[in-house]
Amino acid sequence: MERPPFYLTTPIYYVNSVPHLGTAYTTIAADALCRWRRMTGYDVHFLTGLDEHGQKVAQAAEQNGMDPQAWVDAIAPKFIEAWKMLDISNDDFIRTTEPRHERGAQAFIQALKDSGDLYQGHYEGWYCLPDETFYTADQLAEGKCCPQCGREVQFIQEDNWFFRLSAYETRLLDHYDAHPEFIQPETRRNEVISFVAGGLKDLSVSRTTFTWGIPLPFDPEHVMYVWFDALINYITAIGYGADGTPSFSGPLAHYWPAQYHFVGKDIIRFHCTIWPAMLMAAGVALPERVFAHGFLLTKGEKMSKSKGNAVTPASLVERFGVDAYRYYFLRDVPFGVDGSISVESMVQHYNADLANDWGNLVSRLFNMTEKYCDGIVPQGAEPTPDDEDLVRIARELPEATEARMAALDYQGALESAWELIKRTNRYIEDSAPWNLAKVEETRPRLDAVLYNALEAVRIAALVTAPVLPNTSREVWKRLGLSDPNEVTDVYAAGAWGGLPVGSRVEKGESLFPRIYEDAE
Ligand code: MSP
Repeated sequence: MERPPFYLTTPIYYVNSVPHLGTAYTTIAADALCRWRRMTGYDVHFLTGLDEHGQKVAQAAEQNGMDPQAWVDAIAPKFIEAWKMLDISNDDFIRTTEPRHERGAQAFIQALKDSGDLYQGHYEGWYCLPDETFYTADQLAEGKCCPQCGREVQFIQEDNWFFRLSAYETRLLDHYDAHPEFIQPETRRNEVISFVAGGLKDLSVSRTTFTWGIPLPFDPEHVMYVWFDALINYITAIGYGADGTPSFSGPLAHYWPAQYHFVGKDIIRFHCTIWPAMLMAAGVALPERVFAHGFLLTKGEKMSKSKGNAVTPASLVERFGVDAYRYYFLRDVPFGVDGSISVESMVQHYNADLANDWGNLVSRLFNMTEKYCDGIVPQGAEPTPDDEDLVRIARELPEATEARMAALDYQGALESAWELIKRTNRYIEDSAPWNLAKVEETRPRLDAVLYNALEAVRIAALVTAPVLPNTSREVWKRLGLSDPNEVTDVYAAGAWGGLPVGSRVEKGESLFPRIYEDAE
């Protein structure tokens, strides 16, 4: 059967600093969906990478007494290592200083020049350096601050090249109208529509007061505006401009248009106004959907390095483990809105959901299998009325997970899996295998109960693999099964009754040893 392409991107992150919880959040969410899509039979291409040009990165290099290229080369491995630590399964990693990108970006901007969408002009206005964004005076907060991040803006005036963004107003609005799924969630869609309907200004797309960027092929004194440069990564990574012409070539081209760009809500306008207008100008198809998630807040404030309230991903992974890290952010914060996070709530979720519900279920059940069945998966039996509820939940779980994952409702997907996990715990309580083991007459029932519970565990591990890849692999291994992360048809693999009778079950260590608050 042919596997449909599924191309998903994260933003490319600025290398002015190292990875933090915010950038890890987008990346984990993207990873979980890509993993699920691989398990549901898609030909997935998952792209992430780094935004290495621009004034802000140049400034970070300078502040560290380094040449910009040396600086980005020093920071890039930190992202690569962080994503490895978090088990991110990206298929590609693009850096905007790579020749494949620079060549493609130049081909792209040349095409816009040739089509008459660029002109020379003079820019006078405000610029937020941390956000690399131009603002008009009336957009500023309190007269001199960035409306997005609140930091002070600077006045700049330069002779620049401009992109005729204003000419795309109607076409953009028509596109939003014809493709309601293009901007998600709904609140962001409304925000973008009213922004565009309020009128778009042409955009300055080059800078001349510094040199850290891609030179314009037709005017090399200018470097490309960093956002213009960065957005193009989504196509250069899959072969746009690879042969120096403004078109796709190479084996990855079939992935365009992307199914999803995942972004944070602060950068939705770039992705839903400037980017689609650029693509329209270049005659390239538009991505199918842009999904903006909310901010992670700590004590009610946006968590950021500059505010000094950032805990590092590495410190949390060290304490909780990688799967628990991934689990917490997808379980506690509904994807699409702002959410408060805290170490306290992470400890709570860890202990309640992972250590108690899931870890204990596995260790208890596998111990009982050892004790009552010599560690061998026993023979099941036709479900009795006492089994029906458990079997029904398990049977429905792959479809229920699909429905929630397709809606990017990670929380809901995990809740469905937990419904089965909790139901299995209750099922064991209600069926009391320890009593069934006492007499020979109830032996067949004991076998059936253990089989059903083991099978429920197998299915729960399967559908949670996109979020808990290591735990699920371990659970399947203990059940004598191969790696669930390699599954490409979750419905077939998750069909009730798939656990082979007679396979050997290993007890193993506790999956999630309890964490005590005072262990800080
Ligand atoms: N380089 C640009 C993106 C270019 S994409 C063509 C950029 N980089 S960034 O490193 O500043 O931020 C990347 C993403 O991290 C954004 O989507 C942003 O929303 C997200 N986060 C940064 N801090 C965050 C939180 N506190 N919470 C959640 N995500 C936030 O923007």
